[in-house]
Amino acid sequence: MSGSPHHLYLWLLAVTLSLVPGAQPLAPRDFQEEEENETLWSPLPPVPCDYDRCRHLQVPCHELQQAGPTACLCPGLSSPAQPPDPPRLGEVQTVAEEGRAVIRWCAPFSPVHQYWLLLSEGSRAPQQGAPLNSTVRKAELNGLNPGGAYVVCVVASNDAGESTVPKAGREGLEVAGDPAFGPCGRFTMPPRPLTLIHAAVGVGTALALLSCSALVWHFYLRQHCGCPRRGAIQAQQRL
Ligand SMILES: *[C@@H]1O[C@H](CO)[C@@H](O)[C@H](O)[C@H]1NC(C)=O
Repeated sequence: MSGSPHHLYLWLLAVTLSLVPGAQPLAPRDFQEEEENETLWSPLPPVPCDYDRCRHLQVPCHELQQAGPTACLCPGLSSPAQPPDPPRLGEVQTVAEEGRAVIRWCAPFSPVHQYWLLLSEGSRAPQQGAPLNSTVRKAELNGLNPGGAYVVCVVASNDAGESTVPKAGREGLEVAGDPAFGPCGRFTMPPRPLTLIHAAVGVGTALALLSCSALVWHFYLRQHCGCPRRGAIQAQQRL
């Protein structure tokens, strides 16, 4: 009971003296050092690491944390004892002239060791692509047929297993749920521009032939029988 008013008095005295210009602060030396240490070690506001789960060749976040000079925050991940969640398929760019498609995706919030693609055309059994390391978010598919309809899925794997892929029936791939958030997507290769030119030339030729034959037919009728006019005049004369 007697201690606290005494301390309060000392503290008030210290504050008052420190407010007086030229006065020495009364605080003990070790107390001052403690204060300095506190300001030195006050925690910086935590910042998120420069990690984008959709960026191609993105270094894993825990490696960024180890390499960086200051601490940064990583997104929480599912347990490494569980297979990864499915990655999210991004945009699919098609290059019709080369029969090529560029596939992009975003990492799941799970530890991932490898990715690979599954590709099926129509209802055929899917083909599995080469394994890609965990930094990869973009891959190319080659030798695609012009006008072909495909389903592509991205699979992630770790020591505990691989992410799920919606399956249609026994073999085919399916784009289940909202394709904007799933691992699979549908895309159609545009027909080759050359094919389009051929088709245009074909249709043009056919139209030209049709018009010619119509003209020939018209003049042939007029010259060799001239039926409509003469027939009409003869009919009038007879009346
Ligand atoms: C992952 O694969 C990409 C593309 O093949 C390559 O550029 C990169 O160096 C690889 N990274 C590691 C850590 O192996």
